[in-house]
Amino acid sequence: MVDAAGKATSIPLVGGGEEPTLDRFSVEGRRASGFPRLDVPLGDISLPESAAAPPALPQVSERDLVAHVNRLAHRNFAVDLGAYPLGSCTMKYNPKICDWAAEHPAFSNLHPSSPPGITQGALEVILEIEAILCELTGMSRATFQPPAGAAGEMTGLLIMRAYHESKGRDPGAVIIPDSAHGTNPASVSLAGYQVRQVPSDDRGMVDLDALASAVDEDVAGFMLTNPNTLGLFEEDIVAMADLIHEVDGLVYYDGANLNAILGVARPGDMGFDIVHSNLHKTFATPHGGGGPGAGPVAVTEHLAPFLPGPIPERVGDAITWLQPERSIGRVHGNHGNFLVVLRALTYMRALGGEGLRRVAERSVLNARYLESLLSDDYEIPYPAPCMHEFVASAAALKRATGVRAMDVAKALIDYGFHAPTMYFPLVVEEALMVEPTETESPETVEALADAFNEIAQSAHTEPQEVQAAPHRAPITRTDDALAARQPVLTWHMAAEE
Ligand SMILES: Cc1ncc(COP(=O)(O)O)c(C=O)c1O
Repeated sequence: MVDAAGKATSIPLVGGGEEPTLDRFSVEGRRASGFPRLDVPLGDISLPESAAAPPALPQVSERDLVAHVNRLAHRNFAVDLGAYPLGSCTMKYNPKICDWAAEHPAFSNLHPSSPPGITQGALEVILEIEAILCELTGMSRATFQPPAGAAGEMTGLLIMRAYHESKGRDPGAVIIPDSAHGTNPASVSLAGYQVRQVPSDDRGMVDLDALASAVDEDVAGFMLTNPNTLGLFEEDIVAMADLIHEVDGLVYYDGANLNAILGVARPGDMGFDIVHSNLHKTFATPHGGGGPGAGPVAVTEHLAPFLPGPIPERVGDAITWLQPERSIGRVHGNHGNFLVVLRALTYMRALGGEGLRRVAERSVLNARYLESLLSDDYEIPYPAPCMHEFVASAAALKRATGVRAMDVAKALIDYGFHAPTMYFPLVVEEALMVEPTETESPETVEALADAFNEIAQSAHTEPQEVQAAPHRAPITRTDDALAARQPVLTWHMAAEE
């Protein structure tokens, strides 16, 4: 353990040594940055009493700070280090050109409250990406305020409610399939609706008969991901949409991940009325670290008047902010995470229409190739051709060897790959949800398959080794249950002393 500034540079990058917290490098008077010299007169600033004393922050030089952060970063897996097949999260490689655009000072220094007169370029960005997103999804208008997928779901459900209210109706339930992403039922409850769940059939798709019996006049809408969370395209989607529309319900597309359908199929053509999309998955912003995201919501023409406002509109030669006629109001303090939106537009323009279609084709091809390479050692519970991801099961492996999906996922870390998503969707026992994404080469897909298969084979010969994996990571097995039940999310200097 190191307790003085500078000495921690000798800590090995990988291995068991602990990285000290930043306060251990603190030396009175050291600074990593300063404020620019004041070039305007100092006005009367009255600080609240609580702000009179300086905050108890570590005092460190830039050099020590950068070394500390980099040592931590080297212990972590990242999309820039290798394949990250975390199903449903779409951890694709993000082209650096998107960072270049987002870092451009003309955009990054823009204050969100700047008036339209001096932000025409930024407004143009939003109008342009709106047009592309609407073209890709088959919708008419979109809002870019929601800062994440779950926020998009909430926004879509509020639009659903406003639509029914405009017709003098107050239906109380929203239907979702049992394979739905966890945020779907959470958003439905948060929006004040009851969750009405429908089961999947033995093909892994929504059971059409069960859906028909769940639909009645109290149904406000239906939320669905297509391809669904098993990676399968819902073949009966048009019939499902018709069932919901017959009771004037709305059909909501959870388009968190559009990878499989880009330039190939459009939710609007399948009968959907509202679509949210996670720009931070399909369109180049690393997802999964809890960083900023964007969950724009696009709607058909008849729902456009309910969109959150303001939205940019071209009036004559200029673009300005206007409030949609029956807007549900703001869902974000400003105009959303603009730089995530800018990255997405950069990605779309860099690839072009043909390139976006190739994203869909390659992501499906990679997933199908990987699935075929795994099918001897893992069960594939729903064998219909998968789209951009697939769900394998380690249930038989567990019965034969005691090695679980969690062990397989942990062991992959020793092979230099990130773990897949585990134990989701809930309808599959010992689920391993794998999404190689289009950015991995065939050689990487094969190396990934070799790693999965070797782990399954080792499970038969040396199960304890697999159950103790990873062996080569700085941190090996953590107590996941304890971390979930007693999370320590903040740290105070006083707490350690
Ligand atoms: C299918 C699906 N819907 C919704 C979400 C929620 O998106 P976010 O994490 O941005 O809130 C996710 C996130 O991974 C998802 O996979």
